[in-house]
Amino acid sequence: MSNVTFTMIKPDAVKNGNIGNILQMINNAGFRIVAMKYTKLSLEQAGKFYEVHSARPFYGELTEFMSSGPIVAAILEKENAVADFRTLIGATNPAEAAEGTIRKKYATSIGENAVHGSDSDENALIEGSFFFSGLERF
Ligand code: CMP
Repeated sequence: MSNVTFTMIKPDAVKNGNIGNILQMINNAGFRIVAMKYTKLSLEQAGKFYEVHSARPFYGELTEFMSSGPIVAAILEKENAVADFRTLIGATNPAEAAEGTIRKKYATSIGENAVHGSDSDENALIEGSFFFSGLERF
């Protein structure tokens, strides 16, 4: 079991001024920031990042949204990071997200859902490496 996960604070949460609130929740939940950057994906980069979803009907909407404005990308470290972070962010659909989760507080819809969290140790490594080189991890 790996001890890292990967997250993005998505364009909706950045626009709504929630970077600080979300980082505070991440910090309070005991995650350590290994790498972090404020950046913006091109449509092509978003398409590549979400390639696993390319056959889904929402792929176009997803990649357009994820390239619509700046994001914060980060690698987070904690014991049991992937599962614990998914608990902290809550269900993909904010209508189904538990009280006290990041998505319950800050997400607006299933597409504009404030944050991303890796769904497996394998994907955490792939996704982290999409944004960060070894020299950018501390
Ligand atoms: P995330 O976990 O970052 O990765 C896949 C994303 O696809 C997911 O968050 C949602 O934001 C998005 N997604 C999933 N289902 C839908 C849907 N039905 N319509 C739009 N976006 C979706």
